Amino acid sequence: MSAEGLLPDSLLAFLGCPTPEAWLAEALANPETLLIDHAQCEKKAASTAMNLLYRYVDQPLLLSKMSQLAREELLHFEQVVKLMEKRGVAYRHLSASRYAEGLRRHLRANDPERLVDILIVGALIEARSCERFARLIPYLDSELAQFYRTLVKAEGRHYEDYLLLARQQTDAPLDERIAFFTAREAELIRSPDPDFRFHSGVPA
Ligand SMILES: [Fe+2]
Ligand SMILES: [Fe+2]
Repeated sequence: MSAEGLLPDSLLAFLGCPTPEAWLAEALANPETLLIDHAQCEKKAASTAMNLLYRYVDQPLLLSKMSQLAREELLHFEQVVKLMEKRGVAYRHLSASRYAEGLRRHLRANDPERLVDILIVGALIEARSCERFARLIPYLDSELAQFYRTLVKAEGRHYEDYLLLARQQTDAPLDERIAFFTAREAELIRSPDPDFRFHSGVPA
């Protein structure tokens, strides 16, 4: 387990780098933006899972995992929105961070390779979310810290589910493709980023 005792070593090893301290500092200085973008991310996560439900109807395990995941992400969305209301944070529009698109631009064009890539990207996004929640927890008030602890567990499980589904798509080893996306993800996390968001890079 990690320093905070919240993250399994396998999840940390899966990510190419830890969240930079500068991002943490920026997150603690911008709690409202963090909450609003967090709400956006939960909604987007549900929507991504829903898209897979429409496209891959012939895969029972994928259907059950993604249906459950979509429901959980929508529940997280409701929980974040409720917390925002309670704290007087107005839900305003925020542009998406470069992060998800920065990963998705590398998706291969045709299935089954495309689905493998989508699932690897899903695993990375879940793992990074999990890591960021865990890194923030020590600095948060007890209400938010308690909420994030439940999210660390859920997003950690989502990371495992995405990885399981990716491996299920092919008999070929996925290590090389995972390493490719892990490297792209780490670049997005470690490089300067003008827009602070939940998944942004180093504050520019
Ligand atoms: Fe979530
Ligand atoms: Fe998730």
